[in-house]
Amino acid sequence: MAKLQQQHSNAAGWAPPSVQKRWLLTLLIMLSVSTLIAFFIKSAFDSCDPPHPHNFDVAASNKPAKVFSNSIKTAPSPLSFMKSKLVLLVSHELSLSGGPLLLMELAFLLRSVGTEVFWITIQKPSETDEVVYSLEQKMLVRGVQVLSAKGQEAIDTAFKADLVVLNTAVAGKWLDAVLKENVPHVLPKVLWWIHEMRGHYFKLDYVKHLPLVGGAMIDSHVTAEYWKNRTQERLRIKMPETYVVHLGNSKELMEVAEDSVAKRVLREHIRESLGVRDEDILFAIINSVSRGKGQDLFLRSFYESLQIIQLKKLKVPSMHAVIVGSDMSAQTKFETELRNYVMQKKIQDRVHFINKTLTVAPYLAAIDVLVQNSQARGECFGRITIEAMAFQLPVLGTAAGGTTEIVVNGTTGLLHSVGKEGVTPLAKNIVKLATHVERRLTMGKRGYERVREMFLEHHMANGIASVLKEVLRKSKSHPHS
Ligand SMILES: *[C@@H]1O[C@H](CO)[C@@H](O)[C@H](O)[C@H]1NC(C)=O
Ligand SMILES: *[C@@H]1O[C@H](CO)[C@@H](O)[C@H](O)[C@H]1NC(C)=O
Ligand SMILES: *[C@@H]1O[C@H](CO)[C@@H](O)[C@H](O)[C@H]1NC(C)=O
Repeated sequence: MAKLQQQHSNAAGWAPPSVQKRWLLTLLIMLSVSTLIAFFIKSAFDSCDPPHPHNFDVAASNKPAKVFSNSIKTAPSPLSFMKSKLVLLVSHELSLSGGPLLLMELAFLLRSVGTEVFWITIQKPSETDEVVYSLEQKMLVRGVQVLSAKGQEAIDTAFKADLVVLNTAVAGKWLDAVLKENVPHVLPKVLWWIHEMRGHYFKLDYVKHLPLVGGAMIDSHVTAEYWKNRTQERLRIKMPETYVVHLGNSKELMEVAEDSVAKRVLREHIRESLGVRDEDILFAIINSVSRGKGQDLFLRSFYESLQIIQLKKLKVPSMHAVIVGSDMSAQTKFETELRNYVMQKKIQDRVHFINKTLTVAPYLAAIDVLVQNSQARGECFGRITIEAMAFQLPVLGTAAGGTTEIVVNGTTGLLHSVGKEGVTPLAKNIVKLATHVERRLTMGKRGYERVREMFLEHHMANGIASVLKEVLRKSKSHPHS
């Protein structure tokens, strides 16, 4: 332990004078002091995670909003037509999970072109919450006006707004709860941004107004198709005009991913802290630990791959599995099951559990292969996949959900099927990438090229811009508004 600590302090002192980039230091500090509000690198935890729909409650009270003036540089942006428009963003909650963070990104994109942005959080903890407070401060500083979820001001703003963005299916409950008889007037200018693909969202309670909103924006074609089917079959309602906009990597993430010095420092730092050598091969899942994300099946594949290597007497460097996203306070039973499996198979020295963190860049810099093992219908999109590809990592993913729209099988990674049937194929793919170094590196490069072609912030901003334009145009021609 003492040795580890010493290594840590060495690591912090490493950064040569030439590497005095503020963010690099910030990253290193964040590694040692686990700061929650690491806004540098946005969350990788997919917004598919259910946002506790059963605890829905319109926040009872809220601090009055303060507005700070700010001076954000206006770069040429596809969203510049939104200048001096008024947009109301409605978030089901304010937390460090994918959905709310994505909506905050949109808020900041809009602020940067001079849009007047209002923010409402529907469901807030009753006591003062440190995370909520910090995130609200982030927004206020950038000129986003934070409103109480209900009350006259919320209603007035919804009326005045050129556009209302509802984030996630659950946010639909806000319409009736707050706008009441005014709902029909607001619907034509509502853009509904949906990031989930779970059965329990197909409740009329949440989504009955979907058919009459101005449009729906969904993160992948598979998810859009699924919503179309399910709303029709289960609820007998029709989806509105639906637009698919893939997500993109933030500029901050790309900056780290494209800086070889930063990557090397982060890689060495993380590898030291894990006690693995430079030549060892690291396969990692970076996702909140839960059965849906498939860490259990991944560990089985990993164990099987070790057996194949032993059986065939293959010469490969030492292999490790890294599971980033542990939260012992949340999924205790499943977490315990994973640890028991590791003990039972005696692979403790090869499997590393890392607590949930927002700072994924250091881990992406440190690993060799990303495993995206989400089960059932897979990820709606799976942002960590494009983040890993930005770091030139090949992806071993389930052939489900958004992953199939991101990973090109055989070119930027290898796909395996979901469920138990996928365990052996994934094991074989792990062996393939461990034994074929050239192939692994080439796949990583191809993945990076694909990200540059399709999955950058400006691609997402372009996509969002065309959707906003379209919804604005249609709502203007609507008799109600
Ligand atoms: C939607 O329904 C069609 C026809 O029933 C089917 O072919 C398709 O696979 C379904 N898509 C999803 C995502 O469920
Ligand atoms: C990880 O989280 C657990 C609680 O869930 C905590 O007890 C532990 O100290 C954390 N580990 C690190 C390295 O922060
Ligand atoms: C992926 O490609 C490999 C060949 O490279 C093929 O064997 C496998 O069936 C493909 N998987 C899927 C899910 O398309």
